[in-house]
Amino acid sequence: MREELTALREQALRDIAAAADVSALDQVRIAIMGRSGRLTQAGEQMRHIAKEDRPEIGRLLHEVRTAVTGALEARMADLRSAVEEAELARMDPTLPGVARSVGSVHPLQHLQERAVEIFRRMGFALAEGPDIETEWHCFDALNTPADHPARNEQDTFYLPDGRLLRTHTSSVQIRTMEGQAPPVRVIAPGASYRRDEVDATHLAQFTQMEGLYVDEGVTLGDLKGTLEYFFRELFGPDAKVRFRPHFFPFTEPSYELDVRAAALGGGGRWLELAGCGMVDPAVFEQINERRGDRAFDPDRVTGFAFGFGLERLAMILYGVPDIRMFVENDQRFLSQFAP
Ligand code: DAH
Repeated sequence: MREELTALREQALRDIAAAADVSALDQVRIAIMGRSGRLTQAGEQMRHIAKEDRPEIGRLLHEVRTAVTGALEARMADLRSAVEEAELARMDPTLPGVARSVGSVHPLQHLQERAVEIFRRMGFALAEGPDIETEWHCFDALNTPADHPARNEQDTFYLPDGRLLRTHTSSVQIRTMEGQAPPVRVIAPGASYRRDEVDATHLAQFTQMEGLYVDEGVTLGDLKGTLEYFFRELFGPDAKVRFRPHFFPFTEPSYELDVRAAALGGGGRWLELAGCGMVDPAVFEQINERRGDRAFDPDRVTGFAFGFGLERLAMILYGVPDIRMFVENDQRFLSQFAP
């Protein structure tokens, strides 16, 4: 048994040294240490060894196992690092890397961020409300009569439960005043929905930006100054702003706002860009009734509101000829806005 073990060790070490690659070495390992490997079988012979010889043979067996295991591990490490070196030698670290495109900000998002940034400078906070609205928040509280054409099923998406997809972000004015007493100064960008036929200038979902400022002593002068500042920041100091009397149910007086600026092209034409006005006292009374207090007492507070569409603005600013391009996700379109 002693000679057998010594011979086994010599043979095993020779086989290990001769293994040319990782898989050959694995075969050698199995032949020696596997379930029916040579060393495993030698271990099983221990049962037949005379009792007095067992300590010595046992020690020898242990030595052989340690030596073989050590040799296997060392050879495996050598072979693996040889493989790695060969791979490294094939690699050229001076080759340029593969550039990954990180994409770009959507032009509408970009414009929205610019607009929000300007209003934030004037102390406006961001506000939001749900896209699925109640008729009360979208129309009634905004002083819109029951027979107003905007409420028509032809113009508004109604859900079976009577709620609707908001037709404008003006509902966020109501949501904000329900939850917050004056002073209120918020800007609310978000989606609006109308049952419009989709064409080059209409989408059934578009983006609006709403503004609301309510406090003691807010005047029409504040409204004009705020919007004039905003459009000058957006389009440059040459931008001219014009307020044209109009009608909205929730403001009195109401205006449409036209802008003229070199950045907008159009050969000096006035472009209609926003609706605005002084919050109608009837809106404040709706809010007070809902809140159960007089936080928006029209004898004490006044306010202005405004709203404009971002798609139309972006089309003019960036020279986009068709509003559908904003939702088609065509890389050839989007990548033109990449920084
Ligand atoms: N909600 C109006 C629309 O969708 C825009 C608007 C007009 C918003 C006047 C206002 C406002 O806040 O005061 O056409």
